[in-house]
Amino acid sequence: MSLTVTFCALCTAQYYPLMQTLHNLQCEYPDELFIVELNCMAACEDVPAMLIESEYLPRITPETLYERVRAQLPAYQNN
Ligand code: FES
Repeated sequence: MSLTVTFCALCTAQYYPLMQTLHNLQCEYPDELFIVELNCMAACEDVPAMLIESEYLPRITPETLYERVRAQLPAYQNN
């Protein structure tokens, strides 16, 4: 079982530090993260926004993304 991170590829692409953090997390946890890229996630007012599982994170920063993923991963590792 993997931790799912969902985001709008169209809106988020312009936030390079956030995309770089997501890439780094993917490299760090290749078997634990499942990334879903949508063309719109109905969060146009809250860009950049992400879903980590069912947790909605509007105007997410790279630091918040890193912290939330690291905090939730133990529950998804080795499942
Ligand atoms: S177009 Fe990106 S969230 Fe709607």
